[in-house]
Amino acid sequence: MLIQNACVLVTGGSSGLGAACVANLARQHARIVIADMKPPPDTVLREYEGRIVFSQTDVCSENELQLAIDAGQRQFGPLRAAVTCAGILHAERLLPREGVASLDAFRRVIDVNLVGTFNTLRLCGAAIAAGEADADGERGVMVTTSSVTAFEGQVGQAAYAASKGAVASLTLPLARELAQHGIRVVSIAPGVFETPMMQAAPEKVRQSLIDQSVFPKRLGQPAEFAALVSHVFENAMINGSTLRLDGGVRLAAR
Ligand SMILES: NC(=O)c1ccc[n+]([C@@H]2O[C@H](COP(=O)([O-])OP(=O)(O)OC[C@H]3O[C@@H](n4cnc5c(N)ncnc54)[C@H](O)[C@@H]3O)[C@@H](O)[C@H]2O)c1
Repeated sequence: MLIQNACVLVTGGSSGLGAACVANLARQHARIVIADMKPPPDTVLREYEGRIVFSQTDVCSENELQLAIDAGQRQFGPLRAAVTCAGILHAERLLPREGVASLDAFRRVIDVNLVGTFNTLRLCGAAIAAGEADADGERGVMVTTSSVTAFEGQVGQAAYAASKGAVASLTLPLARELAQHGIRVVSIAPGVFETPMMQAAPEKVRQSLIDQSVFPKRLGQPAEFAALVSHVFENAMINGSTLRLDGGVRLAAR
């Protein structure tokens, strides 16, 4: 898929991995609609003026997401791609020292990380399917964000790992279904990346995660995630897979 002039929706595009995708795609002359609960910094809107529109969106809301797609298409033309980065972290044991895990917290994580991703895929999928195919028969691509916890969830990560495992599991059935529309579906499972989500973790936890990496011995940079997203956009042979981007990390139980 040609990135230049393509209209792309990025959920969670105001921070972290999503914000890095927005900046990278804007530099590659895409046209971007940021669908996030909070706005991006003013500096970003100013730097890429005319290439970015922000639409305040809860990814769980059908109406708000459709409004974001409509805003993007009105300003930039037919939607060609989506990147789902909106997500929340939650850590809680099933059996904490007192009581049991909160059902409301479990539902909230599943709602934002899984239902929000599905909501984005179905509404963006419909918009992309309505567009014109290129010479290769391709109409567009949708990239979701899973996590290595989908495969190696640590103690306390049951809810988060379940949500990200389900995001990974959506990939192949949707790639198979949407092939008839010329739409690829790919998921990226990041290891540990230096974003506001991870900056909130205690230093001890961050260091332990770095120690578990094979190479390089550091957290991933959001720009490295954004570079893979752009590569997936451009490489039509990547489809139906969950790609690990993790410096070889295999998370231990704790
Ligand atoms: N940072 C990591 O190490 C890491 C690793 C694996 C997976 N991930 C996943 O990558 C994605 C991006 O994470 P990040 O580290 O950039 O986090 P982040 O907290 O920096 O950014 C997340 C963004 O999502 C937005 N958001 C949250 N709930 C939303 C909702 N209901 N509707 C719309 N927007 C919402 C937030 O406002 C924020 O801008 C998440 O899905 C996260 O689970 C992150």
